[in-house]
Amino acid sequence: MECLLIKGKQKISGSIKVNGAKNAAVAILPAALLTEGIVLVENLPRITDIDRLVEILQALGAKVSVTDEGCMRIDLSGVKSFSPPALLVNKLRASYYFMGALLGRFREVSIPMPGGCNLGPRPIDQHIKGFTALGASVELEHGIMKIKAKKLIGAHIYLDVVSVGATVNIMLAAACAEGKTVIENAAKEPEIVDVANFLNAMGAQVVGTGTDVIKIQGVRELGNAEHNVIPDRIEAGTFMIATAATKGEAVIQEIIPKHLDPIIAKLKEVGTEVETGPDWVKVKGSERMSSADVKTFPYPGFPTDLQAPMMVLLTQATGTSIITENVFEGRFRHVDELKKMGAKIKLSGRSAIIEGGHELSSAPVKAMDLRGGAAFIIAGLASSGETCLAGVEHIDRGYERVEERLKSLGVKIERISMEDEDEIFPGK
Ligand code: UD1
Repeated sequence: MECLLIKGKQKISGSIKVNGAKNAAVAILPAALLTEGIVLVENLPRITDIDRLVEILQALGAKVSVTDEGCMRIDLSGVKSFSPPALLVNKLRASYYFMGALLGRFREVSIPMPGGCNLGPRPIDQHIKGFTALGASVELEHGIMKIKAKKLIGAHIYLDVVSVGATVNIMLAAACAEGKTVIENAAKEPEIVDVANFLNAMGAQVVGTGTDVIKIQGVRELGNAEHNVIPDRIEAGTFMIATAATKGEAVIQEIIPKHLDPIIAKLKEVGTEVETGPDWVKVKGSERMSSADVKTFPYPGFPTDLQAPMMVLLTQATGTSIITENVFEGRFRHVDELKKMGAKIKLSGRSAIIEGGHELSSAPVKAMDLRGGAAFIIAGLASSGETCLAGVEHIDRGYERVEERLKSLGVKIERISMEDEDEIFPGK
């Protein structure tokens, strides 16, 4: 198994370029199935979630070649299968996008329930509600979802909860449906706008993304396209929070600062200096940070994906902070590990009460999900001593070469191989 060895009491300094957005890229690759032509996708992050999606596309019959760093040419003319392999689907949440994409292409899909980070219950009832409204039947047989439609007909769909996945999945299924689909109470994340831009580049007619009403006029077929994935606001936010938490100074480049408004506002509230340029932010951490309350919400609220990193930062701020997790009810699995490092955190329902100002000390910790893993890296950098972090495979799902990129920001972090878990967690 691999671990990260993180030297503590280090300040992030320097500048770093942000990669393409994971949550846009993981929808765009399945969305490519809606054409029988060729697509060229640029600015893809080199993360294991993308590797798995490419494997699924190849298993379905697509030809994928890497043309340049972060660029892929995908030829979809040979796709004949509508059954993605279960072992791959189970590895990531975003495999749910094969439902909408394959339903749109073949009017039929056979797929197990998606895997991904354990953030508590993650139902897909709103995805199914959308497919059903478009005329599909959905049956679960021995753990496999069988979704079929003689034809897909545009519909008016009101989402009961604001869901990124359901919004995108309905867009995919509706792109080539007959007539017009309207999604109300749609999610407004920038990644959804990016997916719509990709669909429109292929010839779809999607308008209204970025607002809570999306309209899709179905077209007969989609064609070739080229697309450049938007910058990853969550990766940018992770570097920004890491800089503030380590009281460092860094420029985060090639971003869309507007997408980072809720993070910039919160960092300023705790006393961090943030300067914004056209495609960069400069963050300068403060030696004395003050407490702040954080409530996660769908975009443009504070992103749930940065809740765990922000919690680490607040352990370093003077006073008591309250984080309320409004998006995923079970997203506090990082708390017990942070407590091992000396954080003073109490959980009460959907809230975490953080008594800040206590120094973190190193401890062997294990990432159990992607963003929780990023939070432990920040905790390791801010703590005294040397932290050994297991569960690196979760971090590799969403952060490209995390240790190399952090090293370029002047901190000491190494990836090491351990024979077995007992070396890190004796007696566990
Ligand atoms: C996506 C992101 C994830 C992010 C999350 C919220 C991807 C691949 N993942 O996940 O990084 O943390 O958005 O910004 O883009 N819900 C239902 N029924 C449904 C669908 C969702 O009740 O059919 C609930 C969920 O349980 C959750 C909330 O809606 O409480 C939001 O979930 P959703 O926006 O769908 O998240 P994901 O698409 O899974």
